[in-house]
Amino acid sequence: MEHFILPPQPTSRSPLGAQPSDLVTLLSQKVVGQSAATKAIVPYVYMYQSGLAPEGRPAGVFLLLGPTGTGKTKTIEAIAELLHGDEKKILKIDCGEFQMEHETAKLVGAPPGYLGHRETIPLLTQQQLTEVTSLDCDLALVLFDEIEKAAHSITKLLLGILDKGILRLGDNTSVNFEKSLIFFTSNLGSREMMKEINPNIGFQSATARSQIDLTTRLESIALGAVRKRFSPEFVNRIDAVVTYNPLDAGAIEIILDHDLRALQDHVNLRLGERYFSIEVTPEAKRFLLQRGVSQEYGARELKRTIHRQLTQPLATMVTRGEILPGAQVSISVTDAGEALSIVCIGGATKVVRQTTTVLIVDDNHDLLFFLAGQMKEEGWEILIAENGAQARLAFYQRRPDVVLLDYCLGDDDGFKLGLEFHAQAPLTHIILMTGGGFPDELQSVWDGQGLPVLYKPFLAQDVLNLVRGRISKAAATAAA
Ligand SMILES: Nc1ncnc2c1ncn2[C@@H]1O[C@H](COP(=O)(O)OP(=O)(O)OP(=O)(O)O)[C@@H](O)[C@H]1O
Ligand SMILES: [Mg+2]
Repeated sequence: MEHFILPPQPTSRSPLGAQPSDLVTLLSQKVVGQSAATKAIVPYVYMYQSGLAPEGRPAGVFLLLGPTGTGKTKTIEAIAELLHGDEKKILKIDCGEFQMEHETAKLVGAPPGYLGHRETIPLLTQQQLTEVTSLDCDLALVLFDEIEKAAHSITKLLLGILDKGILRLGDNTSVNFEKSLIFFTSNLGSREMMKEINPNIGFQSATARSQIDLTTRLESIALGAVRKRFSPEFVNRIDAVVTYNPLDAGAIEIILDHDLRALQDHVNLRLGERYFSIEVTPEAKRFLLQRGVSQEYGARELKRTIHRQLTQPLATMVTRGEILPGAQVSISVTDAGEALSIVCIGGATKVVRQTTTVLIVDDNHDLLFFLAGQMKEEGWEILIAENGAQARLAFYQRRPDVVLLDYCLGDDDGFKLGLEFHAQAPLTHIILMTGGGFPDELQSVWDGQGLPVLYKPFLAQDVLNLVRGRISKAAATAAA
């Protein structure tokens, strides 16, 4: 049988599975400047992993407090990434959606006998808990965000979970939380905290001593606010209350460096052999920090600022062919200091490829392999995909020269996929295959982009001619 290249599957190995003792280091690399949080949470993970966690209650219950944009949610995402290989593996309940007493039914389902009880699917089921675990680790992370907004009936319900590790659902079945870490986050006391923090505007002004004082003052504000809002039974069942500090200048610079490294990784992954390297001058870093970080929002705006000021302009330049493969892209600040200046140095004049790469996307397995066999004989490198997810992976990792795409792709939409690929790589030849044609409005959108359509039934020779024609036309234009 022919050998075709299937796109590699994403892997999700947990580093914890290999070296549990690294969790503190790994977590503090991801969550910067909040060592108190790491020190409070990690022992509970170890306790669970060693099998020593007490039975009949969750493996750990934490209340995370402190100013906005300081890493509370980021901590839980980082733990999810380390335990399960995916930062989204969190069962998150937005308590803002449960402010009314009767809204408990959305969480646990309505009891039988209530109208529509079958339609209310509870959010907190055993199944939902299992879905946020992984093969590497069966510990589920449950986040109740903005817990201060939850109705009292919800906090009462939560008491049962904290006390016995059990939640009884409307239909009288129960959910076991012994294999979960429960996180509550809250902005309780944050207005008062801001008043305490404000004298330190500029982040660097605080000396080491006043920083320690500030931490203690913030902790007592946070605890005071918590005691006012929640019953003593609730507070007593929390294993650790962690108050997040405002980020200091050093922490913020490290976060920026992380984000810039993530941007470089993204460029390498998405552009493959057309990658370029990004170098950011200290002035440009200062520019990004000034716009992305504030006392009010912490580092919350930093990612968006990088996206707007850097990623988007870079993407435009790549699309216009202004950044050549292998180039060095230097980011500095314009003389007037009001914008970033992006200068591209060097790089190849043309992408030199030995062979033409063709990606064929069709959910009809037989047709897919038949076409692949025919094209392989032309000496082209063939990638195949049977659905949208495989197609995206192959497209973004390998950047084929030609994409042959079926319009009807099972659950995926070949038309939308084609437009997405065209927007990302306008020079790639995207050929849409269809049996029954498509609606007029879609036809005119496709024609408007100047992209070809291949109507089924067609002969193998038709496809080969079309692809050959497209490639040689492009080669002639490039040589001109
Ligand atoms: N300590 C930190 N380490 C690394 N990144 C951070 C840190 N604090 C904030 N960030 C960055 O800022 C973004 C927002 O932080 P996060 O969502 O954790 O804020 P939060 O403390 O949960 O705020 P809120 O109270 O508004 O929910 C994160 O996605 C991350 O990019
Ligand atoms: Mg948050």
